Amino acid sequence: MKLLPQEDNYFGLDLGSSAIKLAQLRELHGRPSLVTYGDIEIDDTLLASDSEIDQGRVSELIKQLADDAKVTTKNVVASLNASQSYTAIITTPKLSHAELAESIKFQADKVIPMAIDQVKLDWAVVSEDAEKEEMEILLVAAPNNIAKKYLNIVQKAGFELLALEINPIAQSRSLISAADKDKCIIIVDIGVLASDIAIIKNTVPQLVRSVTVGGKAFSRVVTQNLGIDESQADQFLKKFGMDETKIEGQVFKTLKPVVDHLVEELNKSITFFQEKNQAQQVEKIILTGGTTALPGLPLYLANATGLTVEIGNPWQNISYPSELQSNLAGLSLSYATAIGLSMRNFHQ
Ligand SMILES: Nc1ncnc2c1ncn2[C@@H]1O[C@H](COP(=O)(O)OP(=O)(O)OP(=O)(O)O)[C@@H](O)[C@H]1O
Ligand SMILES: [Mg+2]
Repeated sequence: MKLLPQEDNYFGLDLGSSAIKLAQLRELHGRPSLVTYGDIEIDDTLLASDSEIDQGRVSELIKQLADDAKVTTKNVVASLNASQSYTAIITTPKLSHAELAESIKFQADKVIPMAIDQVKLDWAVVSEDAEKEEMEILLVAAPNNIAKKYLNIVQKAGFELLALEINPIAQSRSLISAADKDKCIIIVDIGVLASDIAIIKNTVPQLVRSVTVGGKAFSRVVTQNLGIDESQADQFLKKFGMDETKIEGQVFKTLKPVVDHLVEELNKSITFFQEKNQAQQVEKIILTGGTTALPGLPLYLANATGLTVEIGNPWQNISYPSELQSNLAGLSLSYATAIGLSMRNFHQ
């Protein structure tokens, strides 16, 4: 099992906190083409649980989903949230592949805040400047216990786990258009428990951060501050969100400090990245994840960061039957990871 790409026929599996999503592609006329996709809801405590029974339940859901979607392979590439892994960019002297494989543990030990024998480690070359004596490497480390848990869950569902990838690597394949390939772009995935921030340069994540801002935190503050129950809070969030003009800005004012925490982390990440990469400007933010649908949120983030904000379209780099178009458009926020995972074999 690897943390970064390798070849084979497989489907992409995004184990999200609120829903499991899958996608399978195949090559058709030289382009990745949609074979199948699907999702199934999951209780948001299940995946985080360490109990065997809960993990067994996750396996059952995967099995059911894969059956319903009629996947045609037993192989799986699954994703990890940024908060479940460590990533770092390191600079090393120019080395051959074999030399790098030898020395990567020692390099990683300096930057990964965990004992190196407790993590599953993988790496990819980010840039090799012909004129310089150095190269940049993206390191990805997942704690052994998390990698093992995912392996067990997938195996119990009757599948083979070929690789684990972090969400932003997958999303950079599906959400970055061919025209934007050379640009610096921030992908922000606003999910249930967290928002993952990744600054992507030349389609590789250069900086990855996770902030505990997501649908759950929004729901909690609205429930508490407005004294309403969870289902009512959910309705308020979906209807009014960050729209200042609705119900005297009550929901807006309640959510603002939580969203500002995300803004602060975004601006900090941009500043940090720009200090190290002065030649290249961060050009825009691409939003994904279900909570991006919160009314007024994209506009608020655009104003607060001064950057253009776009809603990610994971279908843009693949082919699919035209009759699916309107269905897929409605699912754009949910499928960036599953599609990105399944695009690995097509990505250069
Ligand atoms: N219209 C909407 N307005 C606000 N929030 C929404 C809307 N639609 C969905 N959501 C929220 O989106 C979240 C689900 O998003 P998503 O599917 O990206 O999460 P996930 O992948 O399961 O979780 P994670 O990535 O955090 O593990 C839920 O918290 C849900 O309440
Ligand atoms: Mg997700």
